[in-house]
Amino acid sequence: MKIIGINASPRGSKSQTKKLVKAVLDGARSQGATVELVDLCRLKMEYCNACGICYERGKCVHKDDLQTLYKKILSADGLVMGSPNYFHSVTAQMKTMIDRMADAVHCQLLTGKYTVNIATSGGPGHYKQVLDYLNEIMLNFGSFITGSTGISAREGVKALANTGAKAFRLGEILANDISKKKTYSKQNIRFKENRKYFQDLVKLNKNEWTNEYKYWDKLNWK
Ligand SMILES: Cc1cc2nc3c(=O)[nH]c(=O)nc-3n(C[C@H](O)[C@H](O)[C@H](O)COP(=O)(O)O)c2cc1C
Repeated sequence: MKIIGINASPRGSKSQTKKLVKAVLDGARSQGATVELVDLCRLKMEYCNACGICYERGKCVHKDDLQTLYKKILSADGLVMGSPNYFHSVTAQMKTMIDRMADAVHCQLLTGKYTVNIATSGGPGHYKQVLDYLNEIMLNFGSFITGSTGISAREGVKALANTGAKAFRLGEILANDISKKKTYSKQNIRFKENRKYFQDLVKLNKNEWTNEYKYWDKLNWK
């Protein structure tokens, strides 16, 4: 069982987000998972330029660090996504990574995976804006959401310890969800709707999005 944690704070060892992502990974490791923590801000990543080549050929034109990370994401069983709140959203690095995964939405490439989302903020409760965003994005990629947690930096040492413990517990649950192939019925309804929506979209763009058409065709549009 492989779980990748992605920390999108640029603050290295000072980052609260990184500490919480690590806590989730520690919890998962305690249940037997193999874990890896990626500092997204250390990677070289180009912006998506909307060329549509990934839709057509299944490969991005940019040869950068995201190629390797994307492969790791697609081969992982579980993901931990962590970002601070920067102006009511994820950091630019996290957004850049998400934009580069547009084909994962069209083909629902994270189907069968499980995600825990982590966020932090300066303002009280503002981390929830980021959790809502990440929960929505990861569901749209097809991944189950095991859970999410976050904290505001001003909440103090005790609250941070509590959130750290919650993050560790979420890591344990993440590993158990993966090994038991747990399903979340409400999320399954959403996946069914999404698959239909994106299959219809790919059919509409059949002549340009050739790789995506072939992908769904191979799955018999299921
Ligand atoms: C450029 C920038 C924008 C920010 N915007 C917000 C914001 O809109 N709302 C908020 O609550 N905190 C905001 N913050 C504060 C961070 O979310 C907060 O310090 C967070 O805990 C940092 O996480 P880290 O320790 O993992 O780096 C911002 C910080 C920076 C540097």
